[in-house]
Amino acid sequence: MSFNPEKMDLPPRGELFDFHGVSMTHYFTDNWENVQNFQARPDDILIATYPKAGTTWVSYILDLLYFGQTALERQTSIPVYERVPFLELTPPDSASGTDLVNNLPTSPRLIKTHLPVQLVPKSFWEQNCRMVYVARNAKDNMVSYFHFDSMNMIEPEPGDWKNFFQRFLDGKMVFGSWYDHVNGWWKKKQTYSKLHYMFYEDLIEDTGREIDKLCCFLGLSPSAEEKKQITGGVQFDNMKNNSMANYSTVPFMDFKISPFMRKGKVGDWKKHFTVAQNEEFDEDYKKKMKDPTLQFRTEI
Ligand code: PPS
Repeated sequence: MSFNPEKMDLPPRGELFDFHGVSMTHYFTDNWENVQNFQARPDDILIATYPKAGTTWVSYILDLLYFGQTALERQTSIPVYERVPFLELTPPDSASGTDLVNNLPTSPRLIKTHLPVQLVPKSFWEQNCRMVYVARNAKDNMVSYFHFDSMNMIEPEPGDWKNFFQRFLDGKMVFGSWYDHVNGWWKKKQTYSKLHYMFYEDLIEDTGREIDKLCCFLGLSPSAEEKKQITGGVQFDNMKNNSMANYSTVPFMDFKISPFMRKGKVGDWKKHFTVAQNEEFDEDYKKKMKDPTLQFRTEI
């Protein structure tokens, strides 16, 4: 079901404000006490990303790896955002992320977050939970975020592309600066061994290889047949056509403006960036991304 203004009141778009040094909207801070006091379990798996980096893709892969063979009705009746709840979200007129997680019947529980590493609830670290971080090159990430903010009625008004481009460089986005986010989690990997850091571009290049790496990290050994099924099921067109994976059931997203599963490509930024914007971006990027061990690919 796509958003229909005749059937539902428009939820107010979120307004950005500074929250512990990170730009946020109230939809992600209203439930902060419960988020910070959230009690993780040792087998919980946290899927962490900057928005639009491939969260849904990896969430769906993990869900299939753990429950694809055993809970078949789950695949056809429960949307991915309920199977893998978004911890810090308090959506209009529905249950908070913490409530959804606390009511999950599964073990392990798969939990989504967009929090920068310093805001992750401390019990995840205390319980030594496994975490999967997905990062996507900043240019495609920015373009995807622009279209998302246009179609998602609880996100801040995106404004025009030029204005959005500048805001992205300034880190004035929900969940803050892309640069801080990817670097913060990368740094954490040096001291926290149960963190698997992966790249959207690698998943596009060879989904099977990346699923193998994930299985190695998670200690899973699916059969060859199972792996083939999962690799096929999570290809872009299959997820785009799957109403349990494509977000078409979210009432505050307007698919007439843009579908959630939009392009699913590396390099779409070339259709949006002007030559001047690309130069400005590259110049600024060099100043912000000083760690030579963290490299992104903007084409493959
Ligand atoms: S969110 O709202 O932060 O949870 O969004 P997220 O899932 O992180 O990112 C959405 C983008 O990921 C693309 N996507 C995929 N690409 C390739 N293959 C598969 N299977 C896939 N699933 C999701 C989705 O299309 C969004 O990217 P864009 O560039 O906008 O198409």
